[in-house]
Amino acid sequence: MQQPIAILDSGVGGLTVVREVMRQLPREKIIYFGDTARTPYGPRPAEEVTRFTREIVDYLVQFRPKMIVIACNTATAVALDDIRSRVAIPVVGVIHPGARAANGRTQTGIVGVIGTEGTIRSGAYEQALKQLSPNIEVISLACPRFVPLVEQGNFRSQETYETVSASLEPLRSRKLDTLILGCTHYPFLVDTISEVMGSSVNLISSADETAREISTILYDRNRLARNDELPVHQFFCSGDARMFKTIAQQWLGEQIELTPVVWQVPQIG
Ligand code: DGL
Repeated sequence: MQQPIAILDSGVGGLTVVREVMRQLPREKIIYFGDTARTPYGPRPAEEVTRFTREIVDYLVQFRPKMIVIACNTATAVALDDIRSRVAIPVVGVIHPGARAANGRTQTGIVGVIGTEGTIRSGAYEQALKQLSPNIEVISLACPRFVPLVEQGNFRSQETYETVSASLEPLRSRKLDTLILGCTHYPFLVDTISEVMGSSVNLISSADETAREISTILYDRNRLARNDELPVHQFFCSGDARMFKTIAQQWLGEQIELTPVVWQVPQIG
């Protein structure tokens, strides 16, 4: 039996990584978990996000994955090391790949990062970027209103434009030439973000770079899939299955097999 790659997020955001993995590594089987019942993770305390991430990983290990991808910046920022210490397979996050891509793209050395409150509060991008380039200037901004829009499938309405435009206002006067979409939900809003920021700003999504990292790790360990037939992926979500399925099928451009999971839902905070 083919061992899958397990990918998780607080909701539909990690599907931006899934799409890239499907494109770059079409033979790999994917098991995806979107914790839509408990999204958003952004406003939650680090300990709670770590606990949720552990619970999802514990659920996913029953499928004997060969790798775990934390396709959520908020969870990567606070729980990557914890999960690495708990499982014996490679665990990939999305922050270092995104930082690497941005560092390779910027000409001015001024890079913006947008993400959830949790990701921005952690300073994880700033740390990763400074490790790569000590003189880089990083301008960070939390955009807490973006994730709920994406989870509602509201990608291109007037409300979305107004929300994106108002949220990004503090960045528009700054001289950044590269902006990291430091939340895996944000590529769903990429057209609007690009319209607001203008064409001179490079937008970096960690999805492509993360998929490349997955590919390198599997290649180095001689674990790339060799099957002739294309795999059937499996999707799980803890909340509104209809909304998840609609968004996933639209984003991935194919029908998906979705299993709703009953999950306990604590309140935010
Ligand atoms: N997509 C996730 C991230 O990259 C989480 C967003 C949220 O649940 O607040 O941070």
